[in-house]
Amino acid sequence: MQHSLTKALAAQTAGLILIYALSRNGILPGMPLVWLACLQGALAAIVSMLLRAPRWWGLIHLIFMPAIVLASLLQLPLTIYAGGFCLLLLTYWTSFRTQVPLFLSNRITVHRLAAWLPDNTPQNVLDIGSGTGSFALRLARLRPDWSVTGIESAPAPFALSRWLGRRTPNLQLLRANFWGCSLSSYDVVYAFLSPAPMPALWAKAVREMRPGSLLISNSFAIENARTAEVLRIDDRRATHLFVYRVPESRKVK
Ligand SMILES: C[S@@+](CC[C@H](N)C(=O)[O-])C[C@H]1O[C@@H](n2cnc3c(N)ncnc32)[C@H](O)[C@@H]1O
Repeated sequence: MQHSLTKALAAQTAGLILIYALSRNGILPGMPLVWLACLQGALAAIVSMLLRAPRWWGLIHLIFMPAIVLASLLQLPLTIYAGGFCLLLLTYWTSFRTQVPLFLSNRITVHRLAAWLPDNTPQNVLDIGSGTGSFALRLARLRPDWSVTGIESAPAPFALSRWLGRRTPNLQLLRANFWGCSLSSYDVVYAFLSPAPMPALWAKAVREMRPGSLLISNSFAIENARTAEVLRIDDRRATHLFVYRVPESRKVK
């Protein structure tokens, strides 16, 4: 990620330097500021492509400087920007480092998983990175006989989930970094994260979870780990749930 941020910074700086050089040499006479910003965005997007940054950065570069220029024309009070910044910070918290943004499990996925898990024994389920509780809260309500825990590090989604789940006695929500929490007491660990943490998460599960317990990853398969099953969900995004069973041997496969 740091690599991506460095490339983004390099692309923006290169765009600015190119615009400055073109203007100094009289190649862009009298061009309005908004057009200069659009040109800077296009140049930054090209540099980003040349640096082989992920493709979606191109779109961010295209709109970044024009958005700043247009917003400055609106002359909004500074408090709006400060408020927006604080809201984003409290919602996304350390996403720039964890590479896990906030997006939510849908209702169909939770129902399908609740129906698929063994019905005859109470389950102890953990949602790592529980966000606003869209998975943990729904599951706890669907299965009041199960114990459901959610761990979330970002303050705003955590606070919202605590409020929404305040009348759900079989739901525990912790504000913590899940890397520092033991997975040993859970029958099922559910993760909807991103491709980046999955290999380390699988290693942690194999180290800490009981053999036979399950790690279930929404959408992101774990490279070099054998799936016990793949559940295909009949929702609009055709969600895949990758089910991994913790092996007897403690070696990561
Ligand atoms: C994609 S959301 C999934 C939310 C929820 N599990 C669901 O399925 O609806 C991932 C969440 O994980 C949180 N997260 C990422 N890394 C974390 C960590 N190390 N400890 C705790 N939470 C983390 C993020 O803040 C984000 O809210």
